[in-house]
Amino acid sequence: MIQFTEVSKYYDNQAALKDATFSVGRGELIYVTGPSGAGKTTLLKLIYRAEKPDVGKIRVADWDVGDLKQRTIPYLRRNIGVIFQDFRLLFNRTVFDNVALALRIHSMHPAEIKERCLEVLKDVGLKHKAYDFPKHLSGGEQQRVVIARAMVSRPTILLADEPTGNLDADTAIIITKLFKEINARGATIIIATHSQGGHGMRAFMYCLKTAAKNLWHEKWINLLTVLSIAVGLLILGTFVLLTMNMESSISRWSSGFGLAI
Ligand SMILES: Nc1ncnc2c1ncn2[C@@H]1O[C@H](COP(=O)(O)OP(=O)(O)OP(=O)(O)O)[C@@H](O)[C@H]1O
Ligand SMILES: [Mg+2]
Repeated sequence: MIQFTEVSKYYDNQAALKDATFSVGRGELIYVTGPSGAGKTTLLKLIYRAEKPDVGKIRVADWDVGDLKQRTIPYLRRNIGVIFQDFRLLFNRTVFDNVALALRIHSMHPAEIKERCLEVLKDVGLKHKAYDFPKHLSGGEQQRVVIARAMVSRPTILLADEPTGNLDADTAIIITKLFKEINARGATIIIATHSQGGHGMRAFMYCLKTAAKNLWHEKWINLLTVLSIAVGLLILGTFVLLTMNMESSISRWSSGFGLAI
């Protein structure tokens, strides 16, 4: 479903992602974990072509994402729901309108839009706030609107960037259960998070060890490594020689006294 082959992305000559190769099968639920700045958001952005890879190939379903023409990108995105880390809600629209937006763009019948939006808002526990404005909602409630907006068009791929970051423990569990249900209905889900989720789902420890990897690729680190190995071997060699010398002196010394060691 999603295939990264030796993908790298640079910002100002700094690697945000380096040599990433992995695949995610259809219907899998995957966690991408790593510390702040590890490249989790970058990885998601590459999947829905908010960013283009500098090196490597990205396939999403039948799309060669890196080579997509600008006019083709919306077709890719129709299949992908994104829960943004920074929400991106429209503050001059109601909760309902925020959720309904994608369906209206696709010219769905208003009655069906209403049914779908209220259903998905009920799923995230916000049906009673449908006609409120986002600025009147708490951070956690706004986050749930973002989740509802991503789910409403029933995407085959759901990308969630820190989806439970602003939620209390109980709501986080409800949302995690919701992801499980969406996943059980067949959607492929990638969740980027600092904390690794469990709940019996397959946790994919992508771990983005780019920092360590990048350092390894730096020439001066390689030089230091070679020097360290050389010094290590020298110390080992000296130790072995000293031990051999000591053994022969001891046996000379002991044979002088008629001892057998
Ligand atoms: N548009 C950009 N311009 C310049 N640098 C960027 C840009 N986007 C990301 N970066 C850099 O790329 C690296 C990875 O950023 P990214 O947002 O992918 O990390 P993250 O793992 O999502 O972090 P967090 O857990 O804090 O959300 C960071 O060092 C960041 O500063
Ligand atoms: Mg991020």
